[in-house]
Amino acid sequence: MPFLADSLSRVKPSPTIAVTTRAAELKAEGRDVIGLSAGEPDFDTPENIRDAAKAAIDAGKTRYTAPDGIPELKQAICDKFRRENGLSYQPNQISVGAGGKQTLYNALVATLNEGDEVLIPAPYWVSYPDMVLLAGGNPVIVEGSADQGFRITPEQLEAAITPRTKWFIFNSPSNPSGAGYSREQLKALTDVLLRHPHVWIMSDDMYEHIAFDGFEFCTPAEVEPKLYDRTLTCNGVSKAYAMTGWRIGYAAGAVELIAAMRKIQSQSTSNPCSISQWAAVEALNGPQDYIAMSRDAFQRRRDLVVRMLNACDGIHCPTPDGAFYVYPTIDGCIGKTAPSGKVLETDEDFATELLDSEGVAVVFGGAFGLSPAFRVSYAAADDTLVEACTRIARFCEALK
Ligand SMILES: Cc1ncc(COP(=O)(O)O)c(C=O)c1O
Repeated sequence: MPFLADSLSRVKPSPTIAVTTRAAELKAEGRDVIGLSAGEPDFDTPENIRDAAKAAIDAGKTRYTAPDGIPELKQAICDKFRRENGLSYQPNQISVGAGGKQTLYNALVATLNEGDEVLIPAPYWVSYPDMVLLAGGNPVIVEGSADQGFRITPEQLEAAITPRTKWFIFNSPSNPSGAGYSREQLKALTDVLLRHPHVWIMSDDMYEHIAFDGFEFCTPAEVEPKLYDRTLTCNGVSKAYAMTGWRIGYAAGAVELIAAMRKIQSQSTSNPCSISQWAAVEALNGPQDYIAMSRDAFQRRRDLVVRMLNACDGIHCPTPDGAFYVYPTIDGCIGKTAPSGKVLETDEDFATELLDSEGVAVVFGGAFGLSPAFRVSYAAADDTLVEACTRIARFCEALK
């Protein structure tokens, strides 16, 4: 009898962690490595939020809470949805977890049976397919190629739906491409979903607030109110308020689904950190200046990185609508030989050679289900980004 669960053999280790580990090894050897692989803002959590956490500790708010969130945070989340998204939820429709990741995972565990399919547009956030596999479902990938702006078409969505489709995962702006769906583009998808009442929608709105050039963020339950009852609207404070380490994410949806997610959380992790919950209350209810400040900084950096990468031989870098990633395609580099003598057959080869020869850590496109490409996280200081892009240009120039 094997000791480890069968479900584990279906899951691969996180490729982003593999890159980060290799970069750390090179650093330990004394190499000068620039890491552009991490998916988190490089800013500090705003002071008002840090102060709220300190006050919570001093006020003794350090005990167990309700398993899926304190009433004050659930109310702040309901207010946020009403204020920012025109969506009306009651506190019993809200689940708070240890990061967006836990709420997404809970929803999948709560609903997937063997053979259930989950539609995932590629390029996708690395965790979606593996979370589906761990929860016992089958990920079905729908490819949003570069020439489609990394978006899927309504025809592709229609063709991918089967009687076993349980969820459609939607993420706009997207990790890793930064592509966002306009209201019109999203409406074309929700029109398809209206025709298939057995499909539920999991909208991962994690990058809602990081959107550029006036891109208007929209979310399925708001664009098509007829889908409200079968949409789980997911979000969190990690990216919006530079709170990745605090571990607070949340989801809003049908009372029955939220109750099922609560059951799972109450028998696994119990409540997310009490102090972080109070910090999240302040994040959502307090001053919102950080959002505009970080958005402006990310837009400036995006422009810098897109311009510099497009000047590199063999690289084409589309301009993303949001998030803090670019997803350049590298068809022009594949098949060439690196200075080490290695022929670049895949984007993984490209990323490995780039790290080894120039000390720049990026994540290869294969990890996100769309190749050949790589992801750069530009949540780094401007001069770091200039240096990194200069090295990438040198690397590309040296390819023969
Ligand atoms: C698209 C997307 N969804 C969800 C998450 C998870 O966020 P959290 O840190 O709140 O768990 C991430 C984090 O990288 C993400 O990129």
